[in-house]
Amino acid sequence: MRALSLGSTLFLAASLVFANNFPRLVNLRIEGATGTIYEAPILTRGHNITTASGGNHHCDGTNFGANASPGATCTSALADAAHLDRFTFDGTFFEEFDDFFITRIGDSSETATQDWGVLLNFSFTPVGGCQQEVKPFQHVLWAFDAFNAEHFLKLDGPRVIHAGQAATYTVVDGLNHTNVPVGGATLNGQTTNAAGQVTLIFPSPGPRSLKATKSDSIRSNRLDVLVVP
Ligand SMILES: *[C@@H]1O[C@H](CO)[C@@H](O)[C@H](O)[C@H]1NC(C)=O
Ligand SMILES: *[C@@H]1O[C@H](CO)[C@@H](O)[C@H](O)[C@H]1NC(C)=O
Ligand SMILES: *[C@@H]1O[C@H](CO)[C@@H](O)[C@H](O)[C@H]1NC(C)=O
Repeated sequence: MRALSLGSTLFLAASLVFANNFPRLVNLRIEGATGTIYEAPILTRGHNITTASGGNHHCDGTNFGANASPGATCTSALADAAHLDRFTFDGTFFEEFDDFFITRIGDSSETATQDWGVLLNFSFTPVGGCQQEVKPFQHVLWAFDAFNAEHFLKLDGPRVIHAGQAATYTVVDGLNHTNVPVGGATLNGQTTNAAGQVTLIFPSPGPRSLKATKSDSIRSNRLDVLVVP
């Protein structure tokens, strides 16, 4: 009886503490200088994080009083993906913002003119990554050299096509959901026209992964396509 009631009490206490800070599944994409570092859902909740340059600090949305209760954040997602996928990152800590400034993810380090930026659901977050809480299934994008990027490519098109059948894929600028077509982007060796479109034909069945690139822009999301007989 005693053990049971202690257990129930601990459970109740934990429920109260984690009330808003349950682990949630968010979509995380990290686009580095030369390639995609991570692109998958990640289960994350607000917690302390530690970086070599910044030390150990909370990172649960209550930073700088941004939110009343703790929750998953853009930077907790980054930290949890790094832990899961065995890549590293670094960031300095600014007491005046009560937040980390991310300086490196994987091999992509900031330079004098290139910084890491973070977007939530294709818009730059108005606050730092430990202040910005994330709702389930929202899209967090960490992008290298984000502030010089001309476009944030977004790729869409059919996910299941027949071998030998022509399919049209479209590349737009996802920033702020403007969805302006992006011409001159490369997709599967072809270049998008002014309408942001390319027509692709896959001769043989099998899974394909498509990702659009453009030298002045942040590469697109990955589109997994199944080519069926
Ligand atoms: C988390 O970081 C805060 C400072 O932001 C610190 O006061 C606290 O002790 C840390 N907690 C843990 C468990 O490391
Ligand atoms: C993302 O933003 C769009 C446009 O503002 C909105 O319609 C959509 O609900 C948002 N999605 C999420 C998961 O917040
Ligand atoms: C995107 O939206 C934000 C917030 O609404 C705004 O401050 C920013 O200027 C917009 N950027 C572009 C390129 O439209």
